[in-house]
Amino acid sequence: MLDRFARDIHYLRVSVTDRCNLRCVYCMPEEGVSLLSHEEILTFEEMEKLIQVAASLGIRRVRLTGGEPLVRKDLLSFVAAVKAIPGIEEVALTTNGILLPQYAEDLKKAGLDRVNISLDTMHPQRFQEITRNGHIDEVWSGIEAALEAQFHPVKVNVVVMGGINDDEIADFACLTKRWPIHVRFIEIMPIGEGEASYRGHFVSIDEMKEKLIESGQKLQSHEGIKGCGPATYYTLPSAQGTVGFISAISKHFCGTCNRLRLTAEGQLRPCLHAQKEMDLKTPLRMGATEKKLQLLFRQAIESKPEQHCLSDEGWAGQGRIMSQIGG
Ligand code: GTP
Ligand code: 5AD
Ligand code: SF4
Repeated sequence: MLDRFARDIHYLRVSVTDRCNLRCVYCMPEEGVSLLSHEEILTFEEMEKLIQVAASLGIRRVRLTGGEPLVRKDLLSFVAAVKAIPGIEEVALTTNGILLPQYAEDLKKAGLDRVNISLDTMHPQRFQEITRNGHIDEVWSGIEAALEAQFHPVKVNVVVMGGINDDEIADFACLTKRWPIHVRFIEIMPIGEGEASYRGHFVSIDEMKEKLIESGQKLQSHEGIKGCGPATYYTLPSAQGTVGFISAISKHFCGTCNRLRLTAEGQLRPCLHAQKEMDLKTPLRMGATEKKLQLLFRQAIESKPEQHCLSDEGWAGQGRIMSQIGG
């Protein structure tokens, strides 16, 4: 479906839970957040119903996010159910990788097409600090499990923070020489907890590229990496994978935005940075017809802003933090 700015909206990001088995500094407060109760969160049947409605309006790709999606029970059967919805061509997952050794193979069998794995540092100690006590070995095993399960492509998301992990850009890029993975460097966004990290540690994509070039790496433009997100891709000579950049702040990509977001509690967000959400849970639970739900989706698409409205005033995204939206 086209929005007011002729953008084709065909990608739905679904946050299946606000819970997470890590507590990254730029995402969650140290003490955690008050978690949604089971009644507040949509059941998988309810999510499936909403995705069916979205598919009837032209959504073809679904990405499952969290919190950490793999901590929700029965995700495997949900993946299979979403994949079976007529019109859905691709189901992908964004995960911190910790539970992939346990689930990668079964996710593949369930019909999952792709995985993106978050990893912001290669130093065990730093990883513990960024994630507040996570063990990096579990993520490496997760990346290996994803490759062994034959997911293509496997992408690794690196949120770059000055003075924290920006000295690892070249090392991360060089991983693509050893492994067929696609490393994407992301500008930190001032969302929820990310606001403090953004203010103290923002690094622009141009600065990241400069660091890479200074370290002697040559970037060649590259096209054709499967995905429907905002990254632009390059390769290093003789690499097996690629290096991507996601410039959410310095050169936003709103002009080609193709997505909607559904939160775990059934709110449709027309933009990652939206100040208003469309409540789908209440009408769904009151027995709204498919036609009525289609109308609500249409209204949300109609209300998509031309571009995000981030400014130095800060973020006004309804008091939500990233783990409640899913990135
Ligand atoms: P692909 O289909 O593999 O390209 O996925 P993706 O890059 O869209 O998804 P992923 O969940 O891996 O997100 C990577 C980064 O991009 C995260 O930091 C997201 O917050 C950010 N991101 C994804 N979609 C948007 C968007 O619509 N707007 C902005 N500003 N950032 C986004
Ligand atoms: N800015 C940019 N990316 C973020 N992510 C989480 N918080 C932020 C932020 N404030 C990333 C995660 C994950 C993806 C879903 O979003 O690291 O890779
Ligand atoms: Fe789309 Fe909003 Fe992201 Fe821009 S900031 S690309 S409008 S979701």
